[in-house]
Amino acid sequence: MKNIYDFQLRSNDEFKAAQLESIQNPNSFWGEIAETFQWHSPWNSVLNYDWSIPKTEWFVGGKLNITENCLDRHLLIHPDKLALIWEPNNQRDKTINYTYKQLFDAVCQFANGLKNHGIKKGDRVCIYMPMIPELTIAVLACARIGAIHSVVFAGFSSTALAARINDAKCNLLITSDGSYRGDKVVPLKEIVDVALEQCDSIQKCIVFQRTFMDVNWDDKRDIWWHDFVEGLSSHCPATIMDAEDPLFILYTSGSTGKPKGMVHTCGGYMVYTAYTFLNVFQYQPEDIYWCTADIGWITGHSYMIYGPLSVGATSVHFEGVPSYPNWSRFWEICEKYKVTQFYTAPTAIRALAKQPTKIIEGYDLSSLKVLGTVGEPINEEAWNWYNTYIGKNNLPIVDTWWQTETGGILISSLAGVSQQKPTYATQPMPGVQVALLDPDGKVILDKEAEGILTINHPWPSIARTIFGNHQRYKEVYFSAYPGRYFPGDGALRDSDGNYRITGRVDDVVIVSGHNLGTAPIENAINEHSSVVESAVVGFPHEIKGNALMAFVILYNDVIYSPELVGEIRDEVNRQIGPIAKPDKILIVSGLPKTRSGKIMRRILRKLAAGEIDSLGDISTLLNPEIVEEIIESLSKK
Ligand code: WT7
Repeated sequence: MKNIYDFQLRSNDEFKAAQLESIQNPNSFWGEIAETFQWHSPWNSVLNYDWSIPKTEWFVGGKLNITENCLDRHLLIHPDKLALIWEPNNQRDKTINYTYKQLFDAVCQFANGLKNHGIKKGDRVCIYMPMIPELTIAVLACARIGAIHSVVFAGFSSTALAARINDAKCNLLITSDGSYRGDKVVPLKEIVDVALEQCDSIQKCIVFQRTFMDVNWDDKRDIWWHDFVEGLSSHCPATIMDAEDPLFILYTSGSTGKPKGMVHTCGGYMVYTAYTFLNVFQYQPEDIYWCTADIGWITGHSYMIYGPLSVGATSVHFEGVPSYPNWSRFWEICEKYKVTQFYTAPTAIRALAKQPTKIIEGYDLSSLKVLGTVGEPINEEAWNWYNTYIGKNNLPIVDTWWQTETGGILISSLAGVSQQKPTYATQPMPGVQVALLDPDGKVILDKEAEGILTINHPWPSIARTIFGNHQRYKEVYFSAYPGRYFPGDGALRDSDGNYRITGRVDDVVIVSGHNLGTAPIENAINEHSSVVESAVVGFPHEIKGNALMAFVILYNDVIYSPELVGEIRDEVNRQIGPIAKPDKILIVSGLPKTRSGKIMRRILRKLAAGEIDSLGDISTLLNPEIVEEIIESLSKK
């Protein structure tokens, strides 16, 4: 029988052949890969879909449990191999390692606790925890018994948490007393207590003791984690799931309205995350892989838990932040564990690039083999910095484009295997069929083109619905261009068929009748040597229809001058043209960001338009105080 590693593509020719094969014979292509997993019964058909409904089913009728593939399977081969290396927030605290056997035991034990409290297949369990091993254990324990986990990032407010719990009607919540983030201690249980005042569906709240801080206690509802698992067996047979049974719900913010609970299912998600993990990162069995994301996001689900574990990998999980106790923390961790694959976000890269380079020079980064980036388009300056200072001009950088909705990476180079190109995500994964459309929805046949990115054919890990709202799922993703999946991003294609994601198509601004993407303008501004980061939005203009406003962060040691603002304008003029020159440039000390590090353009658009009375809810921002600062400097202008 073949092993999943037999499907690791090792050369550009093998990659091209796989791309071709996956398009010509998608069913046999994915069927053969899926056969390397452990199934209780085989599928009747590989793929069944109709995107006019829309409906997508993979490995139809197949029976499995994903945790048997992530855990049990490896116990026969390498029970003592490390599954997790956990690095605490504070360097002085002890690292905790979990071998595959230890992780298996902990998961089964916790799963038995869930069963004892009446949690069964199909129930929803909300997890609101810091980045500690118990978060991974809780996630896998749910999957073990077929409960649907809904992880909510532990940086969200009580209002946001309550909305997510109520939307999914969760029965049980798992949290901790508090969490450590840098020099802050966050009272998670306190936030939970406030949220639960509005959540009738929650019957029990399991609390892990992380900080030993004082907490309020509801005897009828709250149970300490250690009491919950006390004396329980670490034998827990896996609940047999249908390939299309839901595995988890994960919320993603819509461009408008309430968050969307994306539903991912068991079979296709497992096969696709494992396959893309192995191929994009070129993971080898002895490697130490580190993704700096939080498990509260899809990157954490797919490329910190399910993908790596399903191929028996060793991963580092980090509780803290890149700036604590100082900005060398990431490089110290890379050196300490001899990290081979390092996967982070452009926003982190830009913050790290702001620091003196001598911080990096003190660390031995020679173990690194692959660098990765995800979450937003990476600007050239950040790409170059990553390549020069971390990659030492010698490492492949995988720029992975995907979404909460896609479950796994759709466009990326394969590290060291397929061609890479700075700031380009490059080529679709095998099995992913991309089309660029013009504004009228017609497929652009020219190779070199810019357009709206769409996907023509199902891949195994596409989200199957929005929890409780299939109609919205249809409207958002399948109605703009019938028969195609519409991710909401634009892209540029070069003559070799490489894709560069240009940003959300909803961030296009029409200035004097010209379509202008804000992302390329930001890239131009960021090219200025004094600029750290910028955001450009449109605002109404009497003559042009729309004009542009740029919010710009300068390096700490730069002194503001009107000349500097002129230079920034010139930079845009030089790179894009006079039409793209911002009408207004405001120097700011920060940009309003979501807790996942995305710039909240909606708020910047309101600020630029002077609509400060209709900013909406800014409480879920990472840095609401910055909005006040911007309002004040606008009033001085
Ligand atoms: C949106 C999805 C995928 C996990 C993290 C984000 C943007 C994501 C890239 C990239 C350019 C990217 C897109 C996408 N995005 N990766 N490599 N290059 N843009 O997941 O929160 O669901 O956001 O992030 O605009 O649509 P998400």
